Amino acid sequence: MSIPRAILVFDSGLGGLTVLREIAAARPDAAYTYVADDAFFPYGQHEEDEIIARVVPLIGDLIDRHRPDLVVIACNTASTLVMDHLRKAYSVPFVGTVPAIKPACAASKTKKVSVLGTRGTVKREYTRTLIRNFAQGCDVTLVGAENLASLAERALRGEAISDDAVRAEIAACFVEDSPRTDTVVLACTHYPLLLEQIQRIAPWPVAWIDPAPAIARRVVSLIGPQADRSAAPAKFLFTSGRAPTATLETALRPFFGADALDFA
Ligand code: SIN
Repeated sequence: MSIPRAILVFDSGLGGLTVLREIAAARPDAAYTYVADDAFFPYGQHEEDEIIARVVPLIGDLIDRHRPDLVVIACNTASTLVMDHLRKAYSVPFVGTVPAIKPACAASKTKKVSVLGTRGTVKREYTRTLIRNFAQGCDVTLVGAENLASLAERALRGEAISDDAVRAEIAACFVEDSPRTDTVVLACTHYPLLLEQIQRIAPWPVAWIDPAPAIARRVVSLIGPQADRSAAPAKFLFTSGRAPTATLETALRPFFGADALDFA
């Protein structure tokens, strides 16, 4: 029987809930703490050295306080920057979230792929190295969305987001070429929150690659599959900035079904 584990899931905001949802489906018996650093959101609009200086000590503090068995950095903008620093500084295993360029290029039939991330993620050397190593024979378009993470966060908090606002953020993913782009990597954990709207307004159908299932598989490979059917422990959500409101709580309960988050 595998032992239930304590897993800390960290993001700049609430996008990492799309990752938590997937991991929790695979290991419902684990104890989850979700931390949204929303006082510093969006990370995509900060300089690289600011993000490193913010995230590395913050994770150290969270490890001291929560003693997790595993930490998931459910944020591309941070993961493409801080994973080496974290692994050097702390002995806990880490799982990061990086653009799924390799599976997207393997799956693409037209060999035209777009990577939709924050401006920070798409300009990172880490992302460029992934393309050099894993996108041979594939034409990759990098699209830095300025506001899409913030729009997703606002949608989750109950605001109606206009199609025009979303269209402006995703338009550059669709390269009118022959053949056309057929696969788009969602290189930000916030974007799956808007996926229905994105799919509806996309100029043509493409495969959207959500990183969450691969992250859940990686977590399970590290901590093992669920072996017993014990009741799922509560999940806790902490935010560094805006206190969770009743609106937020109402928005999150359907997101996790009956197995909702406790706000701490
Ligand atoms: C952001 O904080 O700007 C977006 C988070 C992400 O890249 O996943």
